[in-house]
Amino acid sequence: IPSRNMDNETKFMITCMLFTAICSSVSSDEWKATVVKSIDALVTSCVVVPCSFSHTGGNLPSSRLRGIWHEKDDKKSNIYHEDYTLIKDSFKERTQMLGRLGQNNCTLEITGVKDHDNGPFCFQVELVRTENNDPTKYKFSFVEDCVELNMLTEPPKPAVIKPKTATLGEPYTVTCSVIHTCPTHVPKLSWNLDSTNIIVHHKDIKHGNWEMQSILTFIPEEKDDNREITCTAEFNGGLKSSETFTLHVKRIENYNHIIIPAVVGIGTALLFGIFCIFMRIKLSVNKKETFLLSSVSRLSCR
Ligand SMILES: *[C@@H]1O[C@H](CO)[C@@H](O)[C@H](O)[C@H]1NC(C)=O
Repeated sequence: IPSRNMDNETKFMITCMLFTAICSSVSSDEWKATVVKSIDALVTSCVVVPCSFSHTGGNLPSSRLRGIWHEKDDKKSNIYHEDYTLIKDSFKERTQMLGRLGQNNCTLEITGVKDHDNGPFCFQVELVRTENNDPTKYKFSFVEDCVELNMLTEPPKPAVIKPKTATLGEPYTVTCSVIHTCPTHVPKLSWNLDSTNIIVHHKDIKHGNWEMQSILTFIPEEKDDNREITCTAEFNGGLKSSETFTLHVKRIENYNHIIIPAVVGIGTALLFGIFCIFMRIKLSVNKKETFLLSSVSRLSCR
């Protein structure tokens, strides 16, 4: 019996030592997560939260990492987990880890955003060590790096950039853009005008924000004067917003009516001015000449 006790004690001691060794080796590694602090999220649409993490102990194989997103107030309230049964009911089938953990990317997508999804939500990485078929989990929680969703119940209005006037028969270019946070299901921009010349750009403007741009070019006709032009943004989930402006088309002849008389007028004035100056110079020269002549004649007379 005493030898058995000794055995148990030794086992306990060894376990303790092992545990301390593993824990200290793990805690000496620096773990850091970089999550965007706050991001706009449009209700009914999706939101993609950029997230990355690093570990000074070198890169870890993805098979040993488990990524979890949970509510800040309640660590057990998972909004994303590899084990579906461990996800909070209201988030089931709405969250996806877009980033690859093996590439230190913990980017999260939430679809069908609801107005109470504001968070904050925090990323947590779980390091799974499988030794002698006995999986032991070590959890590291980056609660200091959480994201808050700024809920938008109304979609943002598109912004329109255009030249002040359009000229009849000359190409006219208008740009419509909208900022969003759902790059996996981008908003669609459309115009109330038929044109085959539409260029679409989509760019990352950092911190989880993206810009969708539609550049329309068309040749205005006479009937387009005072026409209302609308750019409509349709977001994932169906919400729409639009921006309208009135087109003013100018004719090229209109300028000629102003420019030609103006040029003629200025030209005439200039000519008249030059003529006057010339005449004045001539007059004064004549005066001097007469003065000189008269003095000369006076002298010669004497
Ligand atoms: C992380 O993953 C997302 C989704 O696949 C991707 O868009 C993003 O560029 C990745 N970030 C980095 C830093 O690689």
